[in-house]
Amino acid sequence: MSKNIEWGKLGFAYMKTDFRYVSRWKDGSWDEGKLVEDNNLTISESSTALHYGQQCFEGLKAYRTKDGKIQLFRPDENAKRLINSCTRVMMPEVPVEKFIDACKQVVKANEDFVPPYGSGATLYLRPFVIGVGDNLGVKPAPEYIFCVFCVPVGPYFKGGMAPVNFITSDFDRAAPYGTGAAKVGGNYAGSLYPHQLAVKKGFADCIYLDPMTHTKIEEVGAANFFGITKNDKFVTPKSPSILPSITKYSLMHIAKEYLEMEVEERDVLVDHLDEFKEAGACGTAAVITPIGGIQHKDKFHVFHSEKEVGPVTKKLYNTLYGIQFGDVEAPE
Ligand code: COI
Repeated sequence: MSKNIEWGKLGFAYMKTDFRYVSRWKDGSWDEGKLVEDNNLTISESSTALHYGQQCFEGLKAYRTKDGKIQLFRPDENAKRLINSCTRVMMPEVPVEKFIDACKQVVKANEDFVPPYGSGATLYLRPFVIGVGDNLGVKPAPEYIFCVFCVPVGPYFKGGMAPVNFITSDFDRAAPYGTGAAKVGGNYAGSLYPHQLAVKKGFADCIYLDPMTHTKIEEVGAANFFGITKNDKFVTPKSPSILPSITKYSLMHIAKEYLEMEVEERDVLVDHLDEFKEAGACGTAAVITPIGGIQHKDKFHVFHSEKEVGPVTKKLYNTLYGIQFGDVEAPE
């Protein structure tokens, strides 16, 4: 029985659901893992996750299709990205099969929290790995926890598929050879202050420029950037310090294979925004959020419109949404 939730009113906020999956690593291996009701973890006060940021996480969603079934969107890609993040901060890998099995167990156990088809809401899954156990020096933890919890969610940015404005930040999200491409908490802790500054100035979030020259767009808050050029190319920044968004790579595929557009991963100069007729932020949480305009120094650049969604962005969104909810055939 579906929970009594106003699905259409959901934002992106925590809600305790019935079950979460917890597995522990000790002495070289992961245990079987199990579903538990308690949403609190008890860990050593000296856990590396608490002191040295030895942790990483993922975000993926479960979708209710028209015929009532539930499907995950490309969980194998999240599993592989979690492995990359774990490797970067010296944590044991969670095998792909274990990751997918944990996600499936959590969705099944919390089936009543999966929003109905047509509500626009989804079930967001948050897998994470943390270094735990007694430890003091700066070194990898002796033990780890892999956990997956889930929360029904609506749009990440208020208004969902409506344009919002962003401002470039003077702060960097990631160092040139740092941890930008890994989904580790420190990247997000460092974004809280620049985000707050952007919001105080009336913007939805900030845009991070490349840490070396501050001339190229890297990320849009916690999402990736894409632009549609005046001659209909799908362009997205290429940089080793960007978090590789699974949604972004899915959109590149959709642009090429479904919309027959040219696709380019390359530098996007913040002084050349005129080349784009539309732009957007994309990610699991943000899905596609159209960018109305970008404030950079004393210039405010408007793309398609501050009020209306551009036609190409709309087509990309409809195709992605259609695949995720099972209405459009997914690629092989
Ligand atoms: C996601 O899109 O899943 C993210 O992880 C972004 C943010 C909510 C941290």
